[in-house]
Amino acid sequence: MDTTLRLALLLTPVMLMNGCGQGGVSFSDDIQPIFAKSCISCHGETGEGAMASDYLMTDYNGVMKGTSYGPVVVPGSRMSSSLYLVIAGKTAPEIRMPPHNDESFAEGRGFMLSAETIEMVGLWIDQGAKNN
Ligand code: HEC
Repeated sequence: MDTTLRLALLLTPVMLMNGCGQGGVSFSDDIQPIFAKSCISCHGETGEGAMASDYLMTDYNGVMKGTSYGPVVVPGSRMSSSLYLVIAGKTAPEIRMPPHNDESFAEGRGFMLSAETIEMVGLWIDQGAKNN
C-alpha cells in the first residue's frame, strides 16, 4: 500500500477522536471556557490586551472580529491564524499569549497553555472556527 494512503488511514480515527463528541470541537463547550479562563482577564472590556490591541474576546463575534489591524482567526487554517500562532509559541516571544516572555515570567504571570488546549484551539480553527 502507498505510504501516504496508509498514513491517512492510520490518522483518520485519531483525528476523529481528538475532535470529541460528534466529531467536532464546539465553541461554546470547548473553546469559550479556555478563553474565559486564560484570556478574558486581559481581553475583556477594560483589560490591558483589549486596550493595547483592541482585541475583545468576551464573545464569538469579538473573537472573530480581531484586533484594530483585522481578523486573527482564518477559518480552516490554524497556520494562517495569528490567534493560534501566538498561543502555540510560533511568534516572537514578546507577543506570545498568554504573555510568557521573560518579562512576564519575572512578574510571575507568564504561562503557556497546555499542549492539549493549544491543539483544541487549532482543531477548532481547522474545522472552520464555527459558532457551534
Ligand atoms: C496578561 C494579559 C494578557 C493575557 C492573559 C492575554 N493577552 Fe493577548 N494581548 C495582551 C496584550 C498587552 C496585547 C497587545 C500586544 C502588543 O500588541 O504588543 C495582546 C495581544 C493579543 C493578540 C494580537 C496579537 C497581534 O497580532 O498583534 C492576540 C491574537 C491575543 N492577544 C490573543 C490572546 C489569547 C488567545 C489569550 C488567551 C490564551 C490572550 N491573548 C491572553 C495581553 C494579554
